[in-house]
Amino acid sequence: MSPSEFEQDPTRSDAAGRRPAAGDPLAPGATPDDAVLLTARGIRKSFGENEVLRSIDLEVRRGEVVVLIGPSGSGKTTVLRSLNGLETPDSGVLDFDGGPELDFAAGITKQGRVAMRDRSAMVFQQHNLFPHMTVLENVIEGPVRVQRVPRARAIADAEALLERVGLSDKRDAYPFALSGGQQQRVGIVRALALRPDLLLFDEPTSALDPELVGEVLKVIKELADEGWTMVVVTHELGFARQVADEVLFMDGGVVVERGAPKDIFTNPAEERTRRFLDRILRPLD
Ligand SMILES: Nc1ncnc2c1ncn2[C@@H]1O[C@H](COP(=O)(O)OP(=O)(O)O)[C@@H](O)[C@H]1O
Ligand SMILES: [Mg+2]
Repeated sequence: MSPSEFEQDPTRSDAAGRRPAAGDPLAPGATPDDAVLLTARGIRKSFGENEVLRSIDLEVRRGEVVVLIGPSGSGKTTVLRSLNGLETPDSGVLDFDGGPELDFAAGITKQGRVAMRDRSAMVFQQHNLFPHMTVLENVIEGPVRVQRVPRARAIADAEALLERVGLSDKRDAYPFALSGGQQQRVGIVRALALRPDLLLFDEPTSALDPELVGEVLKVIKELADEGWTMVVVTHELGFARQVADEVLFMDGGVVVERGAPKDIFTNPAEERTRRFLDRILRPLD
């Protein structure tokens, strides 16, 4: 199918189940899901003498799930933070479809950074909800205060999102009264409420008790199935294998190997990848 035929085919998104109706607060954007949303080229970052990212290249297509795996300290969090404008690379280019395109070696403007931050939302290892605010207040904080969304609309969106993740009854609860899994689901709702094009997850279940991991992974899997575009850092390899379109194995600030999950997980080409997977899957050997 040629690109123009693709665009004219009204059934395609329905068949793929990837584009919910307009106005749906969970709707993941309306452009064809094989268009490239984000290209990162040659991203470098040092903290003092420590070169943490040594030229990272990454491409994320709409509707795609890219999973980053790798040992502690390999630079995974720094990659996510760089995509989200929380960290400023020393050099390299980030190019979002529809803008902005940022060349860090040339320096970026405040508007460039703001525009970039608007494109994605991050879910952290720890939910970091505001403890003095209810669940609803936490969710509408970003839309109302930062994005200037009318409060009534932000509340309606938040309620719909909470319902989608099964937390309607926690609307007026404070974070301390929620389980870790519920707090992380609120963290996800809070990211969704910003209506980002790209969701970034940094080890979203690694701080949870084991029996709570599943409920959070289930929500992320549903979002992936709905066509959300995401970059996920996780050590949950079974989950990664199910949701990932592409897996990147990082070590020492470089992408050592990348490919389809079935290749990376069952038949990695690189010895370093193999050793890392062995350590996770067979920690006592
Ligand atoms: N703000 C910072 N200041 C100094 N060093 C940092 C900072 N953030 C990360 N690092 C260092 O960068 C390296 C990569 O960290 P990180 O991206 O968190 O790795 P990962 O998420 O894969 O564990 C580590 O050596 C870490 O100590
Ligand atoms: Mg990390």
